[in-house]
Amino acid sequence: MGSVGAKEVPVLLSPEGVRTDGRRVDELRPIRIEAGALKHADGSAYVEWGANKVMAAVYGPREVHPRHLQQNTKAVIQCKYNMAAFSVDERKRPGLDRRSQEISKVIAEALESVVFVEEFPRTSIDVYIEVLQANAGTRCAGLTAASVALADAGIPMVDLLPAVAVGKAGGALVLDLNKAEDNFGEADLPMAIVPQSGRLVLLQMEGHVTQEELARALEMGVQGTRQVYDKMRQALRDRYASAPSAEAAQ
Ligand code: CDP
Repeated sequence: MGSVGAKEVPVLLSPEGVRTDGRRVDELRPIRIEAGALKHADGSAYVEWGANKVMAAVYGPREVHPRHLQQNTKAVIQCKYNMAAFSVDERKRPGLDRRSQEISKVIAEALESVVFVEEFPRTSIDVYIEVLQANAGTRCAGLTAASVALADAGIPMVDLLPAVAVGKAGGALVLDLNKAEDNFGEADLPMAIVPQSGRLVLLQMEGHVTQEELARALEMGVQGTRQVYDKMRQALRDRYASAPSAEAAQ
């Protein structure tokens, strides 16, 4: 542990290239995805990603509320990302704040680029993301969950949309920042990449990286999102494999 003023700053990367949680620079945290976790939503998904726990529920296409948001040529995707009051160490004040609004907006825009919205004019596709436990990377876990929930709802999409954050911590580029790296690292770049085409549909950046590091970070994002994609597809396969017995049990 080094120290800066009163704050203890952990050593984010050992000389051997090991991170605070034992991972290598190009390793993801463990990810578990369950498609169709909720009974009453049209589509849903539950994601555990490291210590993050996120539920996504999808409704629609359905009537647009409020009415003035209706669009004649396409569906609107309305997304609400919310962090539960008990999801973080210090109780989060419930309700909408600027951060939740920003995350809701970027997730809705990313999803709009993969959903065939033109097929459902004058409707709304409503996406709810509830963060039950947060530990860095909740927007990526939330977007990943929302995308599986959309597929579970049977909404036509170009492809699933996996997301991951790449960052810089301890002087190196690292895949899937943990909380210490998010707090004390040099940069955080959450991104979402359409797997088949490689199209980047969400990229945000906090902190600084060089142009070369940015190019390398995007490559790491492609590798990382491919791994997330495999988990998403497996979750949907498991859902369909178990669907008849699940229905029977209800
Ligand atoms: O969660 P994500 O990395 O997408 O967004 P962030 O704004 O970079 O937040 C990083 C982390 O800070 C979150 O995942 C939470 O663990 C934490 N956080 C918090 O403790 N209290 C808040 N009001 C917001 C975020």
